[in-house]
Order: sequence, then structure tokens, then C-alpha cells
Amino acid sequence: MSDKFYAEKQAALKHFEALLDEQLERAERIKSVKDFVDYQNLDKLIIGVCGGDGIGPYICKVSRDVLEYMLKDEIDAGKVEIRNIDGLTIENRAAVNKAIPDDVMAELKACHVILKGPTTTPRQGDPWPNIESANVAMRKELDLFANMRPVKVPALGIDWTFFRENTEGGYAVGSKGIKVNDDLAMDFVVTTTEGTERIARLAFEYARKNGINRVDVVTKANVIKTTDGKFLNICKEIGKEYPEISLEDWYIDIMTAKLIDEKRRRDFRVMILPNLYGDILTDEAAEIQGGVGTAGSANIGKRYAMFEAIHGSAPRMVNEGRAQYADPCSMLRAVVMLLRHIGRIEKAEKLEKALDLCMFEEAKIKITGRPDGATNAEFAEYVMSKL
Ligand code: IPM
Ligand code: MG
Repeated sequence: MSDKFYAEKQAALKHFEALLDEQLERAERIKSVKDFVDYQNLDKLIIGVCGGDGIGPYICKVSRDVLEYMLKDEIDAGKVEIRNIDGLTIENRAAVNKAIPDDVMAELKACHVILKGPTTTPRQGDPWPNIESANVAMRKELDLFANMRPVKVPALGIDWTFFRENTEGGYAVGSKGIKVNDDLAMDFVVTTTEGTERIARLAFEYARKNGINRVDVVTKANVIKTTDGKFLNICKEIGKEYPEISLEDWYIDIMTAKLIDEKRRRDFRVMILPNLYGDILTDEAAEIQGGVGTAGSANIGKRYAMFEAIHGSAPRMVNEGRAQYADPCSMLRAVVMLLRHIGRIEKAEKLEKALDLCMFEEAKIKITGRPDGATNAEFAEYVMSKL
């Protein structure tokens, strides 16, 4: 081995050792957190609202209005506080070269739950430094391990809830892969026992509570044998605690096809997936529902929870002067999930009904993303008029 190769190998090993230490430490840490916070018995529940980038501040503003409207009695009684957190912008993140600036992180951690607009994720060629995605950083830092993404198309009999593992898989060290030399780069996939057990349990509990007797686990365990294999095996183990629920085991490629198989797709109800497959499959699912602009997403941890749209910040809409026509439905769906998560079930259901009415059943005004459609504020008014 030449000196050059030897030095590169030593540097890569050192890098790998640091990743290993970090993940071993994380695996221990997540085991020590036992119970979920009980949001109903807090003296005061604090909800943070981060506008984010691009269309984010627009769709977030009207979603905050709706949230405030729904919680007005509790806000007036001092039981709930809604706080704006303005600093989570790409400009601020770039200025400190950090996915989430420290002061913003402190503000986030002072809340119980967060409603977050989409944030711009820098990529090569952008004017921005190549910092980690703010979503990914927030999910990791607040340990929001479950990404719950419902997709419904009642007319087609579709009623899916995806449970995407949110802190591991290809994302755990996604921004810290090893550039060994000019010829070789390596990324890593991470699966931990606790990380898999907790997402599986949440999905099976959801199925049990909702009387659903089937759960589908989606991996690529035939190829990514060690980490996906572990994920699948643990889901099967947890599944044994739920004898009334059957578990089906799918590979991601064929599942991607089955989502557009009209005869089979109605059978799916609850799906559990490692992070990256969950990312990809939920965009496909949202498209079937009417576009990524229609889908909301809940990022759930034991201490914190964050609710957001599943789509990005759409800078093109802002550049073309169309931000006020961006579809707020994804964020409004996120508000429904937030209300449900904090135990305000009746309010969640009321808002969900109004949204179904405005989006599908009555649909008196439509969002098109362009001036021929309604503005996000008009749509929010329409929804509030139905509450
Ligand atoms: C999502 C998004 C993010 C992800 C991006 C913005 C990093 O696509 O929430 O699905 O990959 O998780
Ligand atoms: Mg995605």
C-alpha cells in the first residue's frame, strides 16, 4: 500500500470511528427516554410557529390564523400560547453556517409543539453553503422519530397512514459520509433496536386504536440485508404483541408499483418504512391524493412534536410572484394533526371536516397556484367560514 493510500485509509477510519461513537452514544441516549409528554395536563401549552423559507411564511401565516381561531378560548384563558419563531430562514442559517442557529434552537426547545413552514435545503450549485437540511436537523435534535403521513382519497377507497422512521436509516449520518479519496465515497445506513421498536410500536398502536387489522412493512431487506433486515425483523417481533393484526412484508420497489395498482392499493392502511423509502413513497402517495401541496406531516417524539407540509419551499413560486397563491392545505392538514396530537380531538375533527368539505366535497373555491385560483388567505377564510 502506498503512503498516499495508507494516509487516506487512516483518515477514513478516523472519520468512521467518530461516526460510530456518535451513533453508539445516540443508541444509548434514546433508550433512556421512556414516556411521552402528556400535553393535556400542562399548565400552559406552548406552540411555536416557524414560517421557514419561500412560500413557507405565506402558508404558515394563514395556518396560524386558523389554529388561533380553533384555540381561541384556550388562548384567552391562558392555557395555550402561540409564539412566532422568525429566525429559521436560509439567510440566518447561512450566516452562521448551521442547519439551525443556536438561538432559534433554544426558542424551539422552549415550546412543546411546533408548526413549521417548509425550509430551503441547500444543494450543490446554490448560492448557499452546503449545510444540513433544517428539517433533518430538527428531527434529529428534538428526536422526532416518527414521521406520520396520512393520505386519503375517499372516492378511490384510499386511506393510508405512513409511519416513516425519521431519525435513522440513510439520514442518520446523511451529511457526514466519508470522501475517502477522489475515487471513493461512502455513506452509511443506520438501524438501531430502540429506533425501530419505537416506530413499529407507534404504528401498531395506531392500527389497534383504529381497528385496523393489517400493517405493511416496506423495506429492501433482500439487498440491504443488515440494516433493513434488522428493521424488518424487529417489526415482526413487535407485531407479535398485536396478535389481532397481521403483518405483510413488502419490498420498496414493488410497493411503489402497487400504490398505483387500483385493485390492490385499497388493502393498504398502515405502512411502516425506514426513513428514505418513507420519504420517497409518501411523495408518490401525496401525488395520488392531489399533489404534495395537499399533504401534511407529523414529526413525533416523546418530548416534542413538529407539524409541517411534506413539500419544499417552492422558491420558484416566490420568484414568479405567486407565493400568495400557494396551496395552504398541506399546512392546514398539519394543523389538524397538531390539534389531534395535543389531545384536542374534537377541534381536530371539526377542522378536518371543514377541510374535506372545502377541498373535495363542496370545493367552491380552488387553489391552482396561479392567479386564476384563490389566494391562500381566501382559502383559509373559506375554511374558517365552515367551522
Ligand atoms: C421531507 C423532505 C425532506 C426529507 C427534505 C427537505 C430534506 O423531502 O420532509 O420529506 O427528505 O425528509
Ligand atoms: Mg420528502
